[in-house]
Amino acid sequence: MQVTIFGAGYVGLVTGVVLAELGHRVTVIEVVAEKVQSIRQGTSPIYEHGLDAMLTRVLASGNFQVTDTSEGVVESADVIFIAVGTPPLASGEADLRYVRQAALAIGHGLGSRKRQVVVNKATVPIGSANQVEVWIEDGFDGKPAEDVYTVASNPEFLREGTAIYDTLYPDRIVLGADRSWALEQLKALYRPILDQTFSPPPEVMRPRGLSAVALVETDRISAEMIKYAANAFLATKISFANEIANICERVGADVIEVSRGIGLDRRIGDRFLNAGAGWGGSCFGKDLSALIYTAEEYGYHPQLLQSTVSVNRDQRHRIVSRLQNALKTIKGRRVAIWGLAFKPGTDDLRDAPSLTVIAELSRLGARIHVYDPVAMPTLKRDYPELEVVYANGAIEALAGAEALIVLTEWPAFSQIGLDQIAQALSRPILIDGRNLWTPGAARAAGLDYHGVGRS
Ligand code: UDX
Repeated sequence: MQVTIFGAGYVGLVTGVVLAELGHRVTVIEVVAEKVQSIRQGTSPIYEHGLDAMLTRVLASGNFQVTDTSEGVVESADVIFIAVGTPPLASGEADLRYVRQAALAIGHGLGSRKRQVVVNKATVPIGSANQVEVWIEDGFDGKPAEDVYTVASNPEFLREGTAIYDTLYPDRIVLGADRSWALEQLKALYRPILDQTFSPPPEVMRPRGLSAVALVETDRISAEMIKYAANAFLATKISFANEIANICERVGADVIEVSRGIGLDRRIGDRFLNAGAGWGGSCFGKDLSALIYTAEEYGYHPQLLQSTVSVNRDQRHRIVSRLQNALKTIKGRRVAIWGLAFKPGTDDLRDAPSLTVIAELSRLGARIHVYDPVAMPTLKRDYPELEVVYANGAIEALAGAEALIVLTEWPAFSQIGLDQIAQALSRPILIDGRNLWTPGAARAAGLDYHGVGRS
């Protein structure tokens, strides 16, 4: 099928490359010139496992192209994805200006054929399918004839770091539409994934036993709500684990044991129960704010969702309080931070706990030395005003530091010996914000160890 995608961010680029790999003909429209340049050369502007190799392949096959203009690319498309950014405004409401621009451009290009499906792939507020229709018709300058186009909702659940895996082997595909032809067209688009009939790319092998992917066919509003509810639930699950961890610390229980003990109950499940420095990333905070905003618009006070957010905010501050307790005066003290990215496997810093911790430590007068195997260039680029020293390696960051705070569970960190850490620090305080080590082993190595939810 002919596919046009607005936006070469995480969702747009990964979806485009994967659909091209499956044999569709994909054109991605991106307004940032440097991104277009880099994608054309086969280098993805984002760090994502397997993406560059797959991008190079689909560019060579001729199935994938990227352009900076919507001129002429809407007319020929069977399916048009809107995958542009929807950053939060100060109020928590999603900023839809890029969605509007894309919808106007789509409206402008419609009308030469029938049955084009416009898909909201970006996470948009509940009810946006209707809003997008209004903008499309503004761009078209009127109402197109019946069945020229329709807007469908197809939320994206990919995680950063495993984006290609999640796109090829998702837990489910959610399609929300109010025209049966649109559902049929989208099912045809995703057929190779639904039936798992494609040959797995060498970079991202198929999980054993996966022979079909669940499909949820529903109305548009429910599809939009599924995305918010999924992210709100996952964030709540982590905040729950963090709240339990905070109680564990007080009563002398170990949250790792407690999470394992409850996670074995199949009704609970063991995933997303890791206590630590809290959740971050581009989705959880943004989607929770948007859902809270929507609920309040309708006169409902979403207490549980608000607590999910406030427990997470406090969890980040707790890391700093813990350091204060251990170190007492922070002013003028040298502190090392390992891990900036909001999670391992990505260079993304959006809403990362490290940003809160760095800001607070700076305010308290600490001298901060940081190390992250991937995300340091992002911090330099996006937060040039931060007064931090960038170390060339994990151990180098420790020299002369009176404490180490670990904020991202990069696998390389847990492979560093506790003895080495204790020796490199000038005072052996370890605040383990991701529970990488066990308290007993850390203390045996001479460290003043503070995990989360274990004493
Ligand atoms: C998330 C959703 O998982 C994905 O379905 C959605 O499409 C986008 O948002 P992502 O933001 O890439 O994906 O990251 P995810 O792996 O879900 O982790 C989110 C945050 O939660 C990270 O900061 C991570 O460190 C934290 N986390 C995760 C925990 O603190 N504990 C856990 O047990 C799991």
